[in-house]
Amino acid sequence: MELLEIAPLQNLLSHFRFMITVRSQEDCYHSLILFRLSSGLDTQQLESKTSEKSHDLQQVQSIHSDTRQIYVMEASCPHLGADMSHAEIEECDTGIVAVCPWHRYDFDLKTGKSETGLRACTYQVEVKVDPRDGVNKVYMGTPEEGKNWRLVELRPVSEEFADPPPPISTAKTPFLLPVVENEPVVPLVEAPKTLMQWAVLILNTPNPTLKVERTRHAVNLFRTGELSSIGHKSPNVPKPPDVPSREDSFRRNTVDPKKVKNRKNHAVMLHALANIEQWAIDLAWDIIARFGPTNPQLPPAFFSDFAKMALDESKHFSLLTARLAAISPSTPYGSMPVHASLWESATVTSHSLRSRLAIIHLVHEARGLDINPATIERFRKSGDLETVKVMEIIHADEVTHVTSGHRWFTWVCSQEGNVDPVSTFREEVRIGWRGEVKGPFNAEDREKAGLSPHFYEDLRGEMDFIPNINGSSDKHIGNLTEDMASVTIEYDGVTLK
Ligand code: FES
Repeated sequence: MELLEIAPLQNLLSHFRFMITVRSQEDCYHSLILFRLSSGLDTQQLESKTSEKSHDLQQVQSIHSDTRQIYVMEASCPHLGADMSHAEIEECDTGIVAVCPWHRYDFDLKTGKSETGLRACTYQVEVKVDPRDGVNKVYMGTPEEGKNWRLVELRPVSEEFADPPPPISTAKTPFLLPVVENEPVVPLVEAPKTLMQWAVLILNTPNPTLKVERTRHAVNLFRTGELSSIGHKSPNVPKPPDVPSREDSFRRNTVDPKKVKNRKNHAVMLHALANIEQWAIDLAWDIIARFGPTNPQLPPAFFSDFAKMALDESKHFSLLTARLAAISPSTPYGSMPVHASLWESATVTSHSLRSRLAIIHLVHEARGLDINPATIERFRKSGDLETVKVMEIIHADEVTHVTSGHRWFTWVCSQEGNVDPVSTFREEVRIGWRGEVKGPFNAEDREKAGLSPHFYEDLRGEMDFIPNINGSSDKHIGNLTEDMASVTIEYDGVTLK
C-alpha cells in the first residue's frame, strides 16, 4: 500500500478536525476528514513532544499514543452523502464511532463498519519519523483505484474545532452596512427547508451583511444535519434569479469597469476586492441553485463543496470590509463605484454546468491565483501587514476553489462519456470567452489546483456577444469582457483581481 504524507504531526495540533483533498495522477479526487481525538495533554505539552526529532521507535509510539488516535475517513456518508465534517464522535463498546449528522448512522472510525451494514471508507494512518529530517509526520494509506496520490488540500474544518477552543467572543462582526431592520436571518414566513431554498433566498438577499449571515447560517445547518435535504430533485424547486439582488445604492454606484480601473489607493483596492467577493458568494449559491435541478445525478459532495465555497467567500467579504473600515472609515463598503463584470460571465454560462465551471472557476478564479501574489507583495511593501494576512488567507482558499472547479469539471467530462478535459476546456473557453487568456501564469498554484499548462497556454476566446445582464437586449461586448480577462482594477501598474 502506498503511504501519503499528510503533514508534520505538530501541524495537526491546532485543531481536532481537518478537511483533506487528495488527487491521483488520473485526476481522481477524494474528500476526506481527519479526526484527531483529544490527547489529555494540553497543546503546549504536545507541541514540545512532537517537535522533538527522534528516530527512536518507542518514543514515536509514545507520541502516537499521546495524540491518542488520528483517523481518516471519507468526507461523504455512505448512506446518502452527508458531509461528515460535523459528525459527533462517540465512544461505544466496540470502539469509537462517527455519528452522521443527517440520519445518525454511526461508523467505526477504524474499520468504517456500521450496524446498519453500510461501511464507510476509512484509511490507515501512521505516525512515523521522516528519515530525511527526523520530524514526526502523519501518513495515510491511499485510495485503491489510482496511482501517485497527492495532497491538494489540508485545512481545519472550522474554528469550532480549534485546540484549545477559541474564547467565546461577544464582539459583533464589524460589518459596515446594517442588516435590514425587521428582516431576520431566518425568514419568519416560509423559512427555507432545503439547501436549494436557502440558495435562492440568499441570491435574492440584496443586503450584503444579511447575505453573509444567511450564508453562515445555511451552511452550518447543512453541516450539522439540521438541514438534511438538498432538494434539487424536488418538483417544486425554486428558480434562481437571472441576476442576484442588489441594494438601490449599490445599483446606482455600479459603473462600467473602465471607470473603476484607473483608481489607485488601498481603500479603492479593498473596496473593489470586497465587491468581487460579494459576487463570488452569489456565484457559489447560483451554481447550486441553477445546476442542481438540471443535473440530478450530481452527488452530495458537489453541494458540500460549493456550500463551503460560499462560506469561504463570505469570510473573505467580511475580512476585506473589516480592513476597509480599519484603514478608511470614511469610505465604507458601498460608498465607491463598483462593477458587475463577474455576473456577465455567469450569464454567458447559465446554460451549462460545464461552461460555468470552465469560465468562472478555471478562468476567472484561476486568474486570481496569478494576480494575488503581486497584490500581497504590494501590501507588504506598504507595511500593511494586516491586509497581507487577509490576502494570504484568501489566496490559500482560492487554490482550493480552483481545485473544486477542476474536480467537478473533470467529473462532468467523465459523465459525458470520458471526453478529454483539456480539449473540452479549451473549446469552452473558445466559445465562452473573448480575447486571450492572459498570463503571466502562477504555474505552481495552478498545477496544485489540477491545471497543467496544457489547459491554459496559448488560449484565446472567440466570443462576440453576451446577453445584457439587465435583460433588456443583447449587446456587443467589446471592452467589457476584455476587462473581465484581467479582472478589473489596476494599482500602480499591477492589475488586481
Ligand atoms: S446516515 Fe448519513 S446520510 Fe443518512
